[in-house]
Amino acid sequence: MRWVCLALVFLAIPIHGQPNNGSDTLVWGAYRPNLYFGLRPRIKQSLMTGLMWFGVQDYKSVEKTRHACDQGDGLDSYTWTTYDAREGGVQVIKDSRNNVKLSTQFLKVPGGEHGGSWAARIKGEPLDPARPSRNSIIFYAGMDGLGGLDMDTEEDENGIEGPISFSGTSPGLDDFTLRIVDGPDNEPITDGPHANAFAERAGKTHVAGIRVPSGSIWQAREHILQNIIKHGSEAIGPYREHPSGPPDPSFIFQLSDDVYSGSSLYAVQKLVNGPFQIDIFFESASAKQKLTSAILDEGIQALTTSYNERFDKVFPVPPTYQANDLESIKSFSKAITSNLVGGIGYFYGTSIVDKGFAFEWDQDEDAEETEEKGARLTEPRDLLTATPSRSFFPRGFYWDEGFHLLHIGEWDNDLSLEILKDWVGLIDDNGWVGREQILGEEARSKVPQEFQTQVPTFANPPTLAMAVTAFINRLKAHQTGPSDQDLGMDFGLQDAQFPLGQVTPASSHSRYLEDAELSLLYLKSIYTPLKRHYDWFRRTQRGQIKQYGRKARSRTEAYRWRGRSKDHVLTSGMDDYPRGPPHAGELHLDLISWMAFFSRTMRDIADFIGEVDDAAAFRDIEKATLDNIEDLHWSEENKMYCDANVNDEDESYHVCDKGYLSLFPFLLSLLPTDSPHLGPILDLLRDPEHLWSPYGLRSLSASHPLFGQGENYWKGPIWIQMNYLALGALYKTYGAQEGPYQQRAKEIYAELRKNIIDNVHKEYERTGYVWEQYDPISGEGRRSHPFTGWTSLVTLIISEKY
Ligand SMILES: *[C@@H]1O[C@H](CO)[C@@H](O)[C@H](O)[C@H]1NC(C)=O
Repeated sequence: MRWVCLALVFLAIPIHGQPNNGSDTLVWGAYRPNLYFGLRPRIKQSLMTGLMWFGVQDYKSVEKTRHACDQGDGLDSYTWTTYDAREGGVQVIKDSRNNVKLSTQFLKVPGGEHGGSWAARIKGEPLDPARPSRNSIIFYAGMDGLGGLDMDTEEDENGIEGPISFSGTSPGLDDFTLRIVDGPDNEPITDGPHANAFAERAGKTHVAGIRVPSGSIWQAREHILQNIIKHGSEAIGPYREHPSGPPDPSFIFQLSDDVYSGSSLYAVQKLVNGPFQIDIFFESASAKQKLTSAILDEGIQALTTSYNERFDKVFPVPPTYQANDLESIKSFSKAITSNLVGGIGYFYGTSIVDKGFAFEWDQDEDAEETEEKGARLTEPRDLLTATPSRSFFPRGFYWDEGFHLLHIGEWDNDLSLEILKDWVGLIDDNGWVGREQILGEEARSKVPQEFQTQVPTFANPPTLAMAVTAFINRLKAHQTGPSDQDLGMDFGLQDAQFPLGQVTPASSHSRYLEDAELSLLYLKSIYTPLKRHYDWFRRTQRGQIKQYGRKARSRTEAYRWRGRSKDHVLTSGMDDYPRGPPHAGELHLDLISWMAFFSRTMRDIADFIGEVDDAAAFRDIEKATLDNIEDLHWSEENKMYCDANVNDEDESYHVCDKGYLSLFPFLLSLLPTDSPHLGPILDLLRDPEHLWSPYGLRSLSASHPLFGQGENYWKGPIWIQMNYLALGALYKTYGAQEGPYQQRAKEIYAELRKNIIDNVHKEYERTGYVWEQYDPISGEGRRSHPFTGWTSLVTLIISEKY
């Protein structure tokens, strides 16, 4: 163990003046999480790969070709069960329509100067061995941008036997080869109606080389299916009215075996009967390593073993957790964490911004007429980010990301910093970041047009502040607690001892925690843009105090979300939560609470990097903000925190709708433990007539007239990230520190935690998925799935990491 520490210290020594932060181990990944399986490098325009499959048991399945994750496909389940961004992972996909259980295995092999090599294995077996399982499996690779890809294996108009090789080069990857090899026991499809007539092509591997314009490899599915349909309609010609019926679909739905010169997209098709295995090897030339199936055999085994060991150390189930289904809870926890990390994507492209848009109540009369009215495309940007849902929301969402990073940061601190750095990099000169990052055409293709445009006066809850605070807390804990090595972070390839010529030292998940200088540099590098972002919030989301005769200790700290419509405050993240009518004089409780939290984070980071004057200023603002939460938002009459609004007589009044909104000062641990307002908050959340359910806290009181009404998005359903905040406040603050409500907080914590874990786990077992939200009456999973964004926080809830 000790020498590994030394090796790490050595690694952190600056090479070419740059400290090695381990980002070279993050070049390749399943960074196309919108696909069931798609590998690409974290390079702007480069090699893109993907998997497609359809059944050939009938003529209809081809229309249901699986490629991009789609709820309409009706798969029984799909999730990474093991995934580590630096090592690789294993995904299990169950597709009962095609009677196949697929496993996609991905093994990263470090070496060379261009992000290393990798091997992937696609394995399949029938879900039900008693039924036929005949499938067409297609793997493709295409080059976007500069560089090229050629097929080295000789073409044959009837298909190819044996391995198929490609070689390519691109500016970021340099020279590489790609090889596709059958497993030893694959059974090709050679039987079926009219087998004799198709004997020459049956049982072979089919290919196509297609020319597609740069930047459109993401449309591979359409290009490839077009090729298959064209070939198929020619092949079926003579059999259209055949007395003995049509040929077996497997003879018809084949790639054409044409490879056009100058092709940038190549597809390789295997038609398999029953269990099969296909290995794909990407060898980076500078790594000078030959990959083999034996490396996959051993490497995947070693990867899963060490992943499981490390997982149990990083996310232990506390001994106090009494469950007779402990093993099931553990594999559930691994699956949701793996699918969160395996759901990280790398995106590149333009987005749409309208600088001139403003609702009537947001219009600033003093503002100069901007010359940039209307929606426009921006310069392309790139972003490494987790995604809320691989099927439904496969792109970056600002307020989700802060929660994602809490979870990712526990597993792989340095990966969370890479992602955070990319998001901070999006903060523009004014300090603004778009709420949804819809970068490029592929991302846009999943978003209805009315949601594509971002407006630079619109905000979103500043959850990135949570990620910064969490990192600083980890740094502080690391100075006193066990090191990452002690937690067994060194695993995978280096332990496997398989025959790689040259094995690099242990990859690390926490170089920044080990190296005080590296972390200080990092915090300094994000400080300036983060401060600009914070100032942008204070400047652009300010609320009015004195205009309406409001009395408050601070004359400045009041906030209002811009960009709300009559029925929605999308910017708040709680879209349709009842908020009263729009008015320029509204004050929003959640936003002022977030701002107090943000000020606290800014104070933490300023303290940490020695910006003493700034730290003092942030402390003052924090204090003023906390005072004003009391002065502007507490309703003594209703005994709760509320929004404030303005009536027709220009008088201020409180808008009080019992629900998540009412909890904010508590959720973010802004109230002192002896606050007299804590009791009423705990009463509200523990009351089954209001927020309490056996499945978690409801977003809106069950007694509210709008409960369950309208689109019912935030009008009752249970959201896991909000419950996570509540649990965190109870565990870390109100149950941990002395105060009149400590005992009560502890009791509520234990009950709420159990309710959340039990229900999300039960629904996962029942449906195969974790869900965006849960029904406030029945607890059933609702809306998008899999939703391994913030619903995956259940792992942190199980292991009590808040
Ligand atoms: C890690 O180092 C690389 C190369 O110097 C750099 O591009 C990247 O931004 C660094 N990552 C972080 C999180 O600072």
